[in-house]
Amino acid sequence: MNHSGATAAEHMDAIYRYQRYIYDASRKYYLLGRDRLLDELGPPPGAAVLEIACGTGRNLIKAARRYPHVRFYGFDISSTMLDTARAAIARHGLSDRVTVAPGDAADFAPERLFGVPAFERVFISYALSMIPPWRLALQQALAAVAPGGRLQVVDFGEQTALPHWFRAGLRAWLAKFSVEPRAELVGELQQIAARPGLSVCCDELYRGYALYAVVTKA
Ligand SMILES: C[S@@+](CC[C@H](N)C(=O)[O-])C[C@H]1O[C@@H](n2cnc3c(N)ncnc32)[C@H](O)[C@@H]1O
Repeated sequence: MNHSGATAAEHMDAIYRYQRYIYDASRKYYLLGRDRLLDELGPPPGAAVLEIACGTGRNLIKAARRYPHVRFYGFDISSTMLDTARAAIARHGLSDRVTVAPGDAADFAPERLFGVPAFERVFISYALSMIPPWRLALQQALAAVAPGGRLQVVDFGEQTALPHWFRAGLRAWLAKFSVEPRAELVGELQQIAARPGLSVCCDELYRGYALYAVVTKA
């Protein structure tokens, strides 16, 4: 529940009820780094790929068109976003290869959601900044990666190299959508990198506007 008593699902539904109609057209200007993540997805043929918090399905559709011999799965806590995603997936003729379902990034079981125990690729795009228990979501995402697979994350960065006025204005505007860049994300990823069998590569994009990270599982 948030401070107004709404569940996380109700809160996201309220944010996206109307936003979802302009989401893809507007977000392409400021959710930067998503296409780099998709360029570097590189799933092997026959792989299963999961997007956590898939929103309108924009990334899943782009990825499914680029990687034809791969199965894609996505979940989101907002049923209104999922309605938009399902319609877009069907419009692109991808319903046989792209499956979406309702789910909470902080508490999900991939086997129960999709009948798939683990994925060769898992990615989270601009969602950790909207999920209050984001550390838990990161742990759950890692647990869903198959051995030899990887987790890719893109989200707002710390933006410390950008002008103060820009950073302050952007943050105030993002807060209206319950988006909070995670200052401790790099530190959390570094702790993850210290665990046996895991390695992490972090890259700041556009002078720190965005953070792109890849966690590889041995
Ligand atoms: C900014 S959108 C990003 C959508 C998509 N990943 C993209 O890159 O376009 C954030 C998404 O996270 C979803 N979300 C927020 N909290 C969530 C949670 N706890 N579990 C699953 N999805 C969540 C929202 O409903 C929304 O669709």
